[in-house]
Amino acid sequence: MDLTAFSTPFHNLNRSISSRSTKTAIKFFRIYSYSSPPPVKTTITSQPASLPVRTIPGSYGLPLLGPLADRLDYAWFQGSETFFRKRIEKNQSTVFRTNVPPSFPFFLVNPNVIAVLDCKSFAHMFDMDLVEKRNVLVGDWMPSTKFTGDRRVCAYLDTSEPQHEQIKSFAMDTLKRSSAIWIPTVTTLLDTMWDAIEPQLPSGPVSYIIPIQKFIFSFSSLCIAGADPANSPDIAENGYMRMDRWLAVQLLPTIPINALQPLVEIFLHSFAYPYFLVSGDYDKLYEFIETEGKEVVSRGQTEFNLSKEDTIHNLLFILGFNAFGGFSIFFLSLLASLESDKTGIQEKLRNEVREKAGSGLGLTFRSVQEMDLVQSFVYETLRLNPPVPLQYGRARKDFELSSHDSVFKVKKGELLCGFQGLVMKDPKVFDDPETFVADRFTGEKGKELLAYLYWSNGPQSGTPSVSNKQCAGKEFVTFTASLFLAHLFLRYDSVTITGTSFSAVEKPKP
Ligand code: HEM
Repeated sequence: MDLTAFSTPFHNLNRSISSRSTKTAIKFFRIYSYSSPPPVKTTITSQPASLPVRTIPGSYGLPLLGPLADRLDYAWFQGSETFFRKRIEKNQSTVFRTNVPPSFPFFLVNPNVIAVLDCKSFAHMFDMDLVEKRNVLVGDWMPSTKFTGDRRVCAYLDTSEPQHEQIKSFAMDTLKRSSAIWIPTVTTLLDTMWDAIEPQLPSGPVSYIIPIQKFIFSFSSLCIAGADPANSPDIAENGYMRMDRWLAVQLLPTIPINALQPLVEIFLHSFAYPYFLVSGDYDKLYEFIETEGKEVVSRGQTEFNLSKEDTIHNLLFILGFNAFGGFSIFFLSLLASLESDKTGIQEKLRNEVREKAGSGLGLTFRSVQEMDLVQSFVYETLRLNPPVPLQYGRARKDFELSSHDSVFKVKKGELLCGFQGLVMKDPKVFDDPETFVADRFTGEKGKELLAYLYWSNGPQSGTPSVSNKQCAGKEFVTFTASLFLAHLFLRYDSVTITGTSFSAVEKPKP
C-alpha cells in the first residue's frame, strides 16, 4: 500500500518523513490484520479446570433497594475501587454477584452483574465465543443513539454483526494510512504546545489541561480523519470543548464524581441528559469532519461501502469518544506518574531517550520502539490507571468461568463486569501490585507480563482484529504516549509538575 498517497494538510510539514521511518511504520502497522484470527484464548482461560466448582457468591439484594444501596456505595460512600475490594473480602472470591450503577429510579436497566476481578476470570471477556458485546460498552445501560446520529456506532456492535467488520476495518485502515504522518504531526504539535507554555513559566505554574486537550484534539483529528482544526477558526478555538461537552452529557450517569454529594446522585446520576443540550456542538463537529475530512470520508464510502453518514458518525465517535476521550484521561495519568515519582525516573528516561534518539538520530518508529524503559513506564501507567476501567460482556451461552481458585457456572444472557482498577493489581500475576514500578515491563520476564496488561480490552500481546473487540488504536496509544515522553526528554532535561500544572522546565545545557 502506498502510504505517501494519503495526503492531509500536514503533508506540508517542513520535516521530511524519512524512507527508513516510513518502511518501519509499514512494518509496525502490519500487525493490523483484516483476516479473522482465532478468538483470543490466553493461557489463562484455556487451562484445564481442575478447580472446585463453586456457586457464584454474592447477591443482588431486595428489588429496587439492593440496586439503590449498591449504587450509593459505588458512587458515594465507598467509591468504585473500595466497592469491589470490600465485596471480594466479604465473598472470599474475585467472582461474585453485585449491582452496578446506573439504576433505580429512572433508568430502565438491569443493574445485576457478575463481577470478574482477577486476571484469569476477566480474560473470559476477550473470548468472543463466550461473550457478546452488543450494546454493552458502558454496561446494560446505553446512552441514546441520538448522540451518534441515530445509529449504533462500532464500539456498540458485536463481532457477529456484519457492520462491525466493515467499520473496524475502516478504522484500522485510517490508522495504518496515517502512520506516515503520525510522528511529524505529534512532534510538531508538541513543539507548538511547549513553545506557548515555556515563556509563561517564569510568571508561575501553567495549567496543562487545556494545552494538552488542544494538542490531543488536533493530532487525533489530523491522524484519524485527515481534518486540520487550523482550517476552521471555530473548531481551532472550541473544538476540544465541544467534544468535552458531547462526551460529558452522554456519559454523566456513569461517571463517578466524589464531590458535592448527594447533589451528584440526585441531579447527575438519576436520569440521562437529553441530546439537545449538545446538538449544537455535535453539528459543528459533524460539519468539520464533512468539510475538512473529505478524503477519509470518501474512502469510507468507496472502499468500505459505508454510507456518508455512517462514515462521519463513526469517525466522530472514534476520534471523539475513543481517541480524544481516552487520551485526555491517559495523558493526565502519564503526567501524574512523572509527578509522583521519587526514584529519579526522569534522569533514567532522559538517558534512554538521548541514547536512542539523540545526536541527530531522531524520533522514528524504530528508535521509540527501542526505548524499553519509556515503553515500560507507559505500560505501568496504563496498568495502574486504566483509562477505561470497566468492561462488560454478555454470556453468549452457558459456560464455565474460572478464577484462580474456583470454577463458576455462568448462564446465557448474564452480564459480566470487570473492573480493571483491581484486575490489574492481581497479586497472583503482578509482584508488589500496588506499587508503580517503572521498569516492570522490561526484560524477558517483563515482556511476558504484557499478556496480562488489559487496558485495551485485550492483552497487550494480542492483536486487534475484526473478530475481536480489542481497541483498534492499541498500538497507536502506547506509541503516542512513548513519543510524548521521548519528545519531552529530548527537549528538556527535566520538567517539574505540580498537580495539573507545569511549574518549571530545565533545558539541556548547550
Ligand atoms: C488512550 C486512548 C484509548 C483508550 C484508553 C482506548 C480504550 C479502548 C477500550 C477499552 C476499548 C474496548 C471497549 C469495550 O468494548 O469494552 C476500545 C475500543 C475501541 N477503540 Fe480504543 N482506546 C483509545 C484510543 C483509541 C484510538 C486512538 C482509536 C483510533 C482508531 C481507537 C479506536 C477504537 C475502536 C474502533 C474501538 C472499538 C473496537 C471494536 O468494536 O472492535 N481507540 N478502546
